[in-house]
This record gives sequence, structure tokens and C-alpha cells, in this order.
Amino acid sequence: MQLVRLIYVSVMKMEYDKEEIKKILRMARSKNARNNITGLLCYDPKFFLQYIEGPRDAINKLYASINRDERHTDVTLLEYAEIEERLFGNWSMGFTPSAELDKSILDEYAGDDGKVDPFSFSAKQALSFLVEVVALKTLPHDE
Ligand SMILES: Cc1cc2nc3c(=O)[nH]c(=O)nc-3n(C[C@H](O)[C@H](O)[C@H](O)COP(=O)(O)O)c2cc1C
Repeated sequence: MQLVRLIYVSVMKMEYDKEEIKKILRMARSKNARNNITGLLCYDPKFFLQYIEGPRDAINKLYASINRDERHTDVTLLEYAEIEERLFGNWSMGFTPSAELDKSILDEYAGDDGKVDPFSFSAKQALSFLVEVVALKTLPHDE
């Protein structure tokens, strides 16, 4: 079985409240657990940045569903790669609101305007952002 990881960024259709985000997470967690997918979701009032990892077939199918999902647009693939082992094996879908990330660390990833724009990330930056910054603050479960 080939194991892969996929990172994408997208723009929310509107500013979602906590309930809508929870709805996405609930669905993601139960479906991911069934499909042997793990990962994490970072969001701020504008963007989603998501990392998913698992069997290639399951990841490709999930990415196709995510692309069709009307809650966001401009779904942009940043990284797709084969991996030897998982980074977030215990998390069916951890999540982090970017507001909870440490400002001084966020500044490292900010552009000239002082804002973090994940659309400008290289694959390498996206991965290090998720692993070094987001994972530190990520909650494996919110309830
Ligand atoms: C930002 C975002 C992240 C999502 N993450 C996942 C996920 O990790 N796993 C999942 O099963 N669905 C996730 N979804 C929901 C899927 O887009 C889709 O609605 C769901 O998988 C059901 O698809 P289906 O009706 O094709 O089975 C996410 C949706 C959004 C907007």
C-alpha cells in the first residue's frame, strides 16, 4: 500500500462561525477514521490550510470531494508526496485556529505586509509551517 501526504490551501466562501467549523471537523473525523486518514486543519477567518495523509487511493478520493465542497474556493495543491510514515498518526483531524498561533512565530512566515498568506507558501514552507508551528498548538480533539 502506498502512503501519501497532501497539503492544500483554500479560501473560505464566507467567514464561518465555530459551529460550521465543528461540523466540518465532525464529518472529517468520523470519515477519516474509517478511511485510515490522519492530518490537521488550520484555519483563520479567510483560509483553510489542511494536511492529510493516508493510503493513496483514499487521499485521492478525499481530495476530489474536498475540491467539490462548496464551503470553499480556489483549492490549491501545495504538496503531494509519497511518505514512509505518518506525521500525525494519532489525529483523525487535529485543528488549530490561526488566532491561537504564537505571533512571534507567525511573523517568520509573514510577507512584507505583515500577514501570513499560505497561497505564497512553497511546499517546503507549508510543511514546516504545519509541523513546526501549527502542530505545537493543535488540539487532537476539541471536545
Ligand atoms: C476545509 C475542509 C476540510 C475538510 N476535510 C475533510 C476531511 O479531512 N475528511 C473528510 O472526510 N471530509 C472533509 N471535508 C468534507 C468533504 O469536503 C466532504 O464534504 C465530505 O468528505 C463528504 O463527501 P462525500 O459526500 O463525497 O462523501 C472537508 C471540507 C472542508 C471544507
